[in-house]
Amino acid sequence: MVDKLFKTLIVNKSEDMPKVQSEMKKITLADLSEGDVVVKIAYSSLNYKDVLAFQNNSGVIRKYPMIPGVDFCGTVIETSNPRFTTGENVLCTGYDVGVSHTGGLSEYARVPAEWLIRLDKNVPLEYVMALGTAGLTAALSVNEIVSFGAKRDSEILVTGVTGGVGSIVVAILKKLKMRNISVLVRNKDQRHSYCNEFKNVYLRDDLETKKLIAHQKFDYVVDCVGGTVLEAVLPWVSYKGVVTVCGNIAGNQLKTNMLPFILRGIRLMGIDSVNIKLEEKEKMWQQLLTDWNINGAFSVRIFPLDKVKYVVDNWVEVRNKSRIVISVPDTKNVEKISR
Ligand SMILES: NC(=O)c1ccc[n+]([C@@H]2O[C@H](COP(=O)([O-])OP(=O)(O)OC[C@H]3O[C@@H](n4cnc5c(N)ncnc54)[C@H](OP(=O)(O)O)[C@@H]3O)[C@@H](O)[C@H]2O)c1
Repeated sequence: MVDKLFKTLIVNKSEDMPKVQSEMKKITLADLSEGDVVVKIAYSSLNYKDVLAFQNNSGVIRKYPMIPGVDFCGTVIETSNPRFTTGENVLCTGYDVGVSHTGGLSEYARVPAEWLIRLDKNVPLEYVMALGTAGLTAALSVNEIVSFGAKRDSEILVTGVTGGVGSIVVAILKKLKMRNISVLVRNKDQRHSYCNEFKNVYLRDDLETKKLIAHQKFDYVVDCVGGTVLEAVLPWVSYKGVVTVCGNIAGNQLKTNMLPFILRGIRLMGIDSVNIKLEEKEKMWQQLLTDWNINGAFSVRIFPLDKVKYVVDNWVEVRNKSRIVISVPDTKNVEKISR
């Protein structure tokens, strides 16, 4: 196996080549980062962070050349760690994968055993990567509001619902039979397309207010975009309300005021899916594979490895309302849309 050539996607940048370039390449295991487990990858996925990996100065890739792809699942083919045996299916999300350690957009990956989660043979790998990093982040966000007491009749607002994390948040909330889900979208067409599905569909302008504190509308907010959207939402959060934030796609700055915090005691909870302990990840995945199983409840598009660049270049249109799964074995034209 060691000398066998296999397909991978590489992003590169250097002094002579200041713009990020990407290409499909053939490499061997010797070219992968260190680790005690080698995995034959079945599926990876594309997240917003993966899209940033192809952009100049996004700061996502810490070391060039790099194989991007922050998550993958597949089968162990070599291991020097007794925790795993060959033939077992495994999943990996986050840590340094696809950032400073060669990642999931490749036929093979080699990682430390402590980054891997074992999967039972009956778990569909396509579903695992339909969830991927987005699904883990969504589950952590919903888990947070549930642990703060979210109930079926709570008023819940979700942002970023046309994207990976947000669409899975909604699927989990529906699985939990939450009755009062509202969403915040970016334009009138999206508002129209969602108007029968949610209690209220807001545009950011609907919530923009000059008041430091406004009517109490939302008991819980699962915010996937941050920045100016989060700013607009905070004055409307109810007494003792809880807001989770996992994303910064709408901006890194947060300009807000103290009144929602000191008069209403609202709580703002940051969500990280990358560096949390493996045990916490395992717990969340167990939830997503059992009580919170949402297989088939959100839209998924599947593309082959050599279409990644096309998807990245057309990200907003292609991923609209869908999660993007990458089928890694050389099955050309696998594009498939479920739901
Ligand atoms: N903390 C963590 O561990 C973690 C893990 C995963 C993701 N994230 C972050 O979570 C965010 C979402 O990730 P994703 O993979 O779901 O991305 P995605 O699939 O590209 O979805 C992005 C979503 O944000 C919306 N959006 C983009 N710009 C916006 C703006 N200026 N105002 C309002 N909405 C805007 C998009 O709406 P349109 O459809 O209208 O474009 C879409 O609904 C990203 O910031 C990502 O970095 C964090």
